Amino acid sequence: MKRRLFVRKLAITLSSIAGAIIGIVFFRQFSHKRAGSVKQVRLGELSDFPVDTYTFIEEHNIFVYRDHESVKAVSAVCTHLGCTVQRTTDGFECPCHGSYYANDGSVISGPAPTDLVWYKMSRLPDGRLMVDLDAVTGPDDKLIFT
Ligand code: FES
Repeated sequence: MKRRLFVRKLAITLSSIAGAIIGIVFFRQFSHKRAGSVKQVRLGELSDFPVDTYTFIEEHNIFVYRDHESVKAVSAVCTHLGCTVQRTTDGFECPCHGSYYANDGSVISGPAPTDLVWYKMSRLPDGRLMVDLDAVTGPDDKLIFT
């Protein structure tokens, strides 16, 4: 009888712990998407990014490209095994296994299986640029400024 009671209490305790862990994981999944989370990265002023240049942001492993009317951000993470790609005169090259990407991030030669990832950019009320590393977009989706 005591053994049954012990097993029952143990099962209830373990179920409670598992429920608490699941609840914490569930809550954290949604809480990191709030504005100002680490996935929404403030990049600085527009003037920090030279025109017609891909500027590497090492801290977040992205390139920010600015032209005369817009900015956009592309991941520097190779889609093969995750090395950091480097700029070439006409695209990106992975130093690990030699994948090449065009300026729009599309794969020119493998082993990279897919194109580089682009992220949504926005401008804060104070004028600074922000990139959302949770919001995947495409090379044609750029932040146009006037
Ligand atoms: Fe880039 Fe392999 S990690 S080609």
